[in-house]
Amino acid sequence: MCVYRSFIRPLLFQLEPEQSHGLAHEFIAKGTPLLAAFGKKFIYSGSDLKVSLFGTTLSNPIGLAAGFDKNGDLVHGLKYLGFGYAEIGSITGQAHEGNSKPRLWRLASDDGLINWLGLNNEGAVKIAERLATSKFSVPIGITIAKTNKPNITGNAAYEDMLLSFRAIRHLPLMYVALNVSCPNTLDGVLEETGILSSVVEQISKENAANLPIVLKLSPDSSDKLIEDMIEMGKKFSIAGYVCGNTSVSRAGLNTAEAEDIKVGGLSGPPLKPLALSLCRKVYELKDKNQIIMGCGGITNGQDAYDFIRAGSSVLQIYTSLVYEGPSVVRKINEELSALLKRDKLTLAQAVGIDCSAKARQ
Ligand SMILES: Cc1cc2nc3c(=O)[nH]c(=O)nc-3n(C[C@H](O)[C@H](O)[C@H](O)COP(=O)(O)O)c2cc1C
Repeated sequence: MCVYRSFIRPLLFQLEPEQSHGLAHEFIAKGTPLLAAFGKKFIYSGSDLKVSLFGTTLSNPIGLAAGFDKNGDLVHGLKYLGFGYAEIGSITGQAHEGNSKPRLWRLASDDGLINWLGLNNEGAVKIAERLATSKFSVPIGITIAKTNKPNITGNAAYEDMLLSFRAIRHLPLMYVALNVSCPNTLDGVLEETGILSSVVEQISKENAANLPIVLKLSPDSSDKLIEDMIEMGKKFSIAGYVCGNTSVSRAGLNTAEAEDIKVGGLSGPPLKPLALSLCRKVYELKDKNQIIMGCGGITNGQDAYDFIRAGSSVLQIYTSLVYEGPSVVRKINEELSALLKRDKLTLAQAVGIDCSAKARQ
C-alpha cells in the first residue's frame, strides 16, 4: 500500500494546489533529517542507471524539473527524494510575484496540472546569494527566464537575462538552461529566435567557466521555430535541449473543467505525447554531441524508457511527484532498470534507439 496515495495525498488535495505545494516545500526545506532517515526508502540503490551529464556522474537519470524549487531553497534535501540532479528556477533578473491567482489547477481525472504561475521568484541576485552558501545534495542546473513584465523588451530583455547569468555564473553548477518556452508570461510565447540569439551569443562570450548552456523548448513550437532554435544551438555550441516545457493544448483531457481554464501550461500524463514528439524531432536535428533532457508526463518506468528511446539521455519530472509522492523517483528507476534488463540494453545503448539510424550515427 502506498502511504502517500492512500493517506497523505487525500489530505494535501483538500487544500488549494499552491497551499499543498507550500506545505510539501516546507517539509523538504525543514524536514531533511527526517527525509534522510527515510533515505533508503526513496533512493534507488542500483548502479546500472548511473549516467554522465556534462562530465558529472549522476546516481540516476531522473532530475527534478524546473519550477518546483524556484528559489533554490531545497538543494540540501533533494538527494533524499532520490533525484539524480535538479534544475532550480526559473530565476529572472528582477524578483517577481508571478501572475494573479487563481493560477494553479489540478486535473484530477488526468493526474495533470495546469499552471499559470508566471515565473514567480525572488530574483537572480538573491537566489544566487542563497545558493553560494548552500550545500548541494545533488548536482544542480539553473534555469534563467526573462522577468515576466511586458514592458521589458528589446535591449532591456537582453540585459535582464544577462543580469541573471552574471549573478550565477560563478556557482558550481552543472549547467544553465535558458527557458525560452514558458507559456505563462504576459509577453506571450516566443515566436522567433531574434533577441534570444543575441542573449546566447553574449552569454557564450561571458561564459569564462564554460558552463554548459541548454535551451528549454516548447512542445507547442512550430517545426520551423524548432529548426531555427537548433540551428542557433549549433552556431553557439549549445550543449543540449530540455524537451520540454508545459503546453497550451487542452486536447484529450478527461477533466471537464479544464475546458474553462483558458490560460496556463498543461503538465503530467496528457503532455507526454507532445513532449515525446518534440524529443524525437530534436534528436533528428541536433548535433550528436548535444544531449536531450526529456520531460513531460513521466510517471513510471515505461514513460522514462519511451523518452530515452526517443533520444533523451536524462529525464526530469514535476507533476508525477505531486500525484505519486516521494517514492516516485525510485519507482521510475526500478521499472526503467527492469525494462532495460528485459531488452538486454544498457541505458546508453537505449538512447535514441527508436530514432533514425542516420541520427544515431
Ligand atoms: C507548477 C509548475 C511550475 C513550473 N515552473 C517552471 C519554471 O519556472 N520554469 C520552467 O522552465 N518550467 C517550469 N515548469 C515546467 C516543468 O519544469 C516541466 O517542464 C513540465 O511540468 C512538464 O513536466 P511534468 O509533466 O513532469 O510536470 C513548471 C511546471 C509546473 C507544474
